[in-house]
Amino acid sequence: MSVGKNIEHDSAYTHVTGESLFVDDRPMLKNEILVGVLGAPVSSGVIKNIDVTKALALEGILAIYTAKDFPQNKWGTIVQEQPILVDDVIGYIDEPMCLIAGINNEVIKRAKKLIEVQFVEQPAILNIDEAIKADKYICKAIAFKQGDADLALKNSPHVLRGAFECGGQEHFYMESQASIVYPLENGQLEVHSSSQHPTETQHVVAHALHLDFSQVVCVVKRMGGGFGGKESQAAHFAAMAALVAHKLKRPARLALSKDDDMVMTGKRHPCKNFYEVGFDNQGKILAFKAQIYVNGGAYTDLTPSILDRAMFHIDGCYFLENCHIEGRAVRTNQHSNTAFRGFGGPQGNMTMESVIEDIANFLKFDSFKIRRLNLYGIDSRNMTPYGQMVDNNVLPEIFDKLHKSSEYEKLSMEVLAFNQEQKGKLRGLSMTGCKFGIAFTARHLNQGNALVNVHIDGTIQVSTGATEMGQGVNTKIQQITAMAFGIDPKKVKVMATSTEKNHNTSPTAASSGTDINGAAALVACEKIVARLKMVAHYHFQGIVSNDLQELPEFDAAIDTDYIKLLDEKFIDSQKQKEIGFVDILKIAYFNRISLGDYAFYKTPGLGFDKKSLSGKAFNYYTNGAAVSLVEIDEYSGELKILRTDILMDLGRSINPGIDIGQVSGAFVQGMGWVSTENLFYHQSGKLLSHSPTTYKIPNVQDTPRVFNIELLENHSNVQNVLRSKAVGEPPLLLGASVWTAIKNALSYRSKGKLPHLSSPATHEVILMELSSYE
Ligand code: MTE
Ligand code: HPA
Ligand code: MOS
Repeated sequence: MSVGKNIEHDSAYTHVTGESLFVDDRPMLKNEILVGVLGAPVSSGVIKNIDVTKALALEGILAIYTAKDFPQNKWGTIVQEQPILVDDVIGYIDEPMCLIAGINNEVIKRAKKLIEVQFVEQPAILNIDEAIKADKYICKAIAFKQGDADLALKNSPHVLRGAFECGGQEHFYMESQASIVYPLENGQLEVHSSSQHPTETQHVVAHALHLDFSQVVCVVKRMGGGFGGKESQAAHFAAMAALVAHKLKRPARLALSKDDDMVMTGKRHPCKNFYEVGFDNQGKILAFKAQIYVNGGAYTDLTPSILDRAMFHIDGCYFLENCHIEGRAVRTNQHSNTAFRGFGGPQGNMTMESVIEDIANFLKFDSFKIRRLNLYGIDSRNMTPYGQMVDNNVLPEIFDKLHKSSEYEKLSMEVLAFNQEQKGKLRGLSMTGCKFGIAFTARHLNQGNALVNVHIDGTIQVSTGATEMGQGVNTKIQQITAMAFGIDPKKVKVMATSTEKNHNTSPTAASSGTDINGAAALVACEKIVARLKMVAHYHFQGIVSNDLQELPEFDAAIDTDYIKLLDEKFIDSQKQKEIGFVDILKIAYFNRISLGDYAFYKTPGLGFDKKSLSGKAFNYYTNGAAVSLVEIDEYSGELKILRTDILMDLGRSINPGIDIGQVSGAFVQGMGWVSTENLFYHQSGKLLSHSPTTYKIPNVQDTPRVFNIELLENHSNVQNVLRSKAVGEPPLLLGASVWTAIKNALSYRSKGKLPHLSSPATHEVILMELSSYE
């Protein structure tokens, strides 16, 4: 069985040897041109004139294009309001404004300096507070209500009020946004893009150039990381390359530099979430009210869905008997913020984890006790604020098992003793959890299709809408296919994603790449297997052999369950006969039986009704918890993560090796978000932290010194493809345990006050909080 095993990532060898091809690795064609992008000069204003004469006169510059060159200059996943190139109104500084087609990057750089832009600057809105004051909103979410929050708040023995604030996050994928567009005959275009969403890229390109969707093919071999940053925002860069290719009838390559990518593209949504929480003497939450504000940046992009997911996750792992949750997205003059691993979920979840830490500090209890007390129950206390019951709830099991395996009690005593010694170092400990809803919250996106071609040498090619960004979706689909045919996974190739093979696909996002595309592939495989089993049946009956006779009509009444597919063989389990996989394929081929198939899959049972707050928003939840032990240098604020223990429930993992890689990667990305990754803007709105030297993602020394990851043995999960659970995003939420552990550490010095911490808790932020206690 190929499923459940640690077979290697399908690109493991070629990544190491450097053979793997990314968009910008494609060899240059003879007449290919490069495309550079010039950004807008200010955060807010109106463009009066763009003079490109001097730039155009440079030798090696072929053309310069602006907004008016696009037949259709507006795009947007949810609302088509975002200009591909700034029209007259500037939405944010460095917003793409001019395209420069040139023969090399040097001349493009020189041309950028010669473009003269006249504009009138206007006041800019650069954060959530300013946007609220100016009443600038992108959207408002439907409120979630359960019980009577106001009444319960009034009757609560204790009430805490505050605001949880967190910053954005740069995706920091290794491969910047990149597209190459080849013009074909009759206005057709072949687009190669580093995109999580080939279908949207196809549509945006076609739309922008007034082409039919059928004239554009988008191919995605792989991405060098996406993390959500290429869910929507690969598309308009592809349209820019497409414009140049279309106009000049030459292949056009647009591959952003790291710095351009960082200033031009959207990031995780910063948040400011106001809350009131009422609780009793034991720390049981009696009432919770929250107003979520997310900073959407200049355009709508995916913000409404991200706000929804923040709303869906503000409960964390905890039952809120009486709650009222509201949410709004503000519009600012910043890069349009977008999907980022967790998709608003981390911002919601961390708000609640912060509140719990505060309750613990207020009551002077260990925070684990508060968390355990408020956890969703199994038979009762299991209704979410949005009317979905938490079924198959493994949270209590996970929390209790991790409490034990991480030696929480012992560590907690050690922290207490350590902090009493006062040696310039301070330690903190905290456990947080995740209950991540799996499914696109936009119901229609929960569909996929797959094409499976079986070749007569016994090898198979599979194509789905899933895109490979390092997460291993190809390997999982490879394993599922190999299992369906009972063959070695090496015989299965997952092919480059292309809109020519798979139509109207959803982005590879919401952690559901395997859930949707793996399931579609399995259905397609099963259709072929059913036919092959019939051939094998006739063979075992002595009716057909490898000569040129026609098979009898397939008889649906014949039960072929007695035939098993294993080790490249069809086995008659009753009569102990067998025939090789390739032999059956040959018989089938000569008897004109189709060896290929296509299938469609939609996630069953979804249907959340926003008006009545009922129905299923999610197919199931992926749960986990993490305990982090941190140490702070009291003189510098420097943070070290001494130990992290994680326990995740991933059902029956298709590939535990890949899944543990996802858990560790997501956790580290989450802890980076809450501790070191600080987007730093000049007062003009210019992003100053736009390179690896100024924006600090975790490196290997920043990861936990001791890092234990375990998967829960869970055979009770019956949902989803082969009873596996999605893994891509959920563990990012567990990075919050580092931040709450910092809060816990600070509580030892805060002289009875509640430590006040925003995210990221950088060394400076920690030091400033510590010095406020003096
Ligand atoms: N892992 C790697 N190595 N690179 C990535 O870009 N993206 C994450 C996650 N894991 C990402 C990753 C995000 S944001 C999502 S939604 C999922 O992978 C998408 O893939 P999946 O649905 O196949 O898990
Ligand atoms: N998650 C991730 N990406 C998405 C979603 C979602 O729920 N909806 C639309 N794009
Ligand atoms: Mo992931 S943020 O859903 O691409």
